[in-house]
Amino acid sequence: MKVTLSVIKADVGSIGGHTRPSNKMLHTIGEMVRSACSTEKGLLLDGMVTYTGDDIALIMSHRHGVGAEPVHKFAWECFLAATEIAKQQGLYGAGQDLLVDAPSGNIRGAGPAVAEIEFERDPRSSYRPAEAFLVFAADKCSPGAYNYPLYNIFCNPMHNGGLLLNPKMHQGFTFTIIDMDYKDKDRIIKLDVPERAWDVAALLQNPDRFAVEAVHSRYKPEEQIVSVSATRLHNIAGKYTGKDDPVAIVRTQGIFPAPEEVVEPFLLGHFVAGDARGSHVMPIMPVAINTPVAGAFCLPLVSCLAFSMNPDGRFTEEYVDIFGNAVWDQTRLKVQQKADEWRRQGFIGSTMASHAELAYTGIVDTLKALDEEFFIRE
Ligand code: 13P
Ligand code: MG
Ligand code: MG
Repeated sequence: MKVTLSVIKADVGSIGGHTRPSNKMLHTIGEMVRSACSTEKGLLLDGMVTYTGDDIALIMSHRHGVGAEPVHKFAWECFLAATEIAKQQGLYGAGQDLLVDAPSGNIRGAGPAVAEIEFERDPRSSYRPAEAFLVFAADKCSPGAYNYPLYNIFCNPMHNGGLLLNPKMHQGFTFTIIDMDYKDKDRIIKLDVPERAWDVAALLQNPDRFAVEAVHSRYKPEEQIVSVSATRLHNIAGKYTGKDDPVAIVRTQGIFPAPEEVVEPFLLGHFVAGDARGSHVMPIMPVAINTPVAGAFCLPLVSCLAFSMNPDGRFTEEYVDIFGNAVWDQTRLKVQQKADEWRRQGFIGSTMASHAELAYTGIVDTLKALDEEFFIRE
């Protein structure tokens, strides 16, 4: 049967700053998801609720396809219910990511981050009898945050030996990259790798503007491997409302990269735009699922869960918290040290985000006022 995986995430309020949603919010959404999975409602095959920093992620499987109105409407209602609780509890940023009053149908572009993949779940499939996948959720950063890992997973055998070892992967992949500066419609480009890897690199170099939206197999072109939520909140809202905090689905094993190959690039703690006030450039830290933001700087965070889906589309019974494992402790310490060292430079130059990415306009307004005071020396 055809199954769609939908990961929809929003920040609708958090305790004491941009830290984490409250237990009451999570419990309420959890109950709604449980009810949507019940046989009477039948909306979802399965679903669960997690958080990464101040963002709530709904991870769902269903049979309605990508961009399906009933599923998107359900997610929106979940976030509205949690917003109400956030208001009652006096939490910060209640309803922060719900940027329109009532979205029509699909909520992509209405604030929440959406990553979805539809595939055939067939236990008798010759090349994909098992369905393994990873769900990433990042907080305090922009959608280009996945550019560095995705390039290395699909284009760089120095990071992913599977590109040499697996003959199905050796046939390459098709990248779909979106121009996030284009506001009216989706402006995208499709590039085959390895032939066009340097063209992919040239675009991904600028993660403020270009982000990987999807990756497909070239061995089986109908198979989508990756989906990233690549929309920018400030383009939707017209002003800063928070960082985009992207989610991603990556299908693994068989004709796709193995999970160990997919997470390897996260050892670096690569620099991304985000952090405090969404206005800095800082290294991203891999963290356990359901980790609040509590450190200095509001360091960018990323969580990663590994799942297997049974033939009925159910996947939540057991899972592995990849970045929650002790093997990532060393990386966490390194990233914190890297951040501490980097931020000793304060606001000068590269440590603060580019002016186009600056979330708060205070400095831009100040510069505008100062511009009037400049004069040309005779
Ligand atoms: P969020 O985008 O996660 O809400 O964080 C905003 C912020 O300004 C943190 O300092
Ligand atoms: Mg927030
Ligand atoms: Mg957030």
